[in-house]
Amino acid sequence: MRIAVTGASGKTGWRVVQDALGRGWQVTAILRPGSLVPEGLTGATIERLELQDTAALQRALQGCDALVIATGARPSIDLLGPLKVDALAMPPQLQAARAAGVSRVLLVSSLCSGRLLHPLNLFGLILVWKGLGERWLAESGLDWTVIRPGGLKESEEGLEAEGIVYSAADQQESNSIPRRLVARVCLDALQTPAAINRIIEVTSSPAQPPVALADWLAS
Ligand SMILES: NC(=O)c1ccc[n+]([C@@H]2O[C@H](COP(=O)([O-])OP(=O)(O)OC[C@H]3O[C@@H](n4cnc5c(N)ncnc54)[C@H](OP(=O)(O)O)[C@@H]3O)[C@@H](O)[C@H]2O)c1
Repeated sequence: MRIAVTGASGKTGWRVVQDALGRGWQVTAILRPGSLVPEGLTGATIERLELQDTAALQRALQGCDALVIATGARPSIDLLGPLKVDALAMPPQLQAARAAGVSRVLLVSSLCSGRLLHPLNLFGLILVWKGLGERWLAESGLDWTVIRPGGLKESEEGLEAEGIVYSAADQQESNSIPRRLVARVCLDALQTPAAINRIIEVTSSPAQPPVALADWLAS
């Protein structure tokens, strides 16, 4: 398996890269020209480009089996950030994936994506633009999966005792999940054909018995 990860310098992105390398996969980590390189990218091939540069992106995606999109607007006073990254960065990535022959694309989105009336929209209508990005992906004709996590946590402790609460779209509203578990779900989804063309919401809890994604999808 060979995957590319955009937003690989981000806190979820580098964990997706690191977990994939741990599974023995080859990984191309796609960063912006000015992105800082987290330690978790050690062992990955690093490509620096702007996502709007579809020719460069197509070259970076050549030979990959899947693309994981783990980008997200950094906290900023630029209220156009979510529009730029969650919506407008999606068409060039889908176009480049198609041109490079990458048919499998997974997007890390968010619980409540697509909602208009939500306090998170005070940050540049972020949930509206995430909803649009999801829609463009679903209409792309590619084999897509959207993972919608709850609030993201940096915790790395006790994760094996933490079960993931999976649901279909628009079933969960709150709660959180460590980024490490989100990364794991993303890669499990790439290995699970039943995850294709699905929106999957994920949060986690120590009270939840651990269930594999494939088992949840089968049930
Ligand atoms: N924070 C939460 O609680 C929460 C909850 C649910 C869902 N989410 C979503 O989950 C995803 C991952 O979140 P995270 O907190 O792990 O991410 P993060 O650490 O904020 O990283 C964001 C990544 O996106 C990249 N990026 C930002 N703007 C970009 C642009 N215009 N063009 C290309 N790349 C750009 C960043 O690159 P640089 O390093 O160059 O800045 C970085 O690699 C995001 O979509 C986020 O909205 C977050």
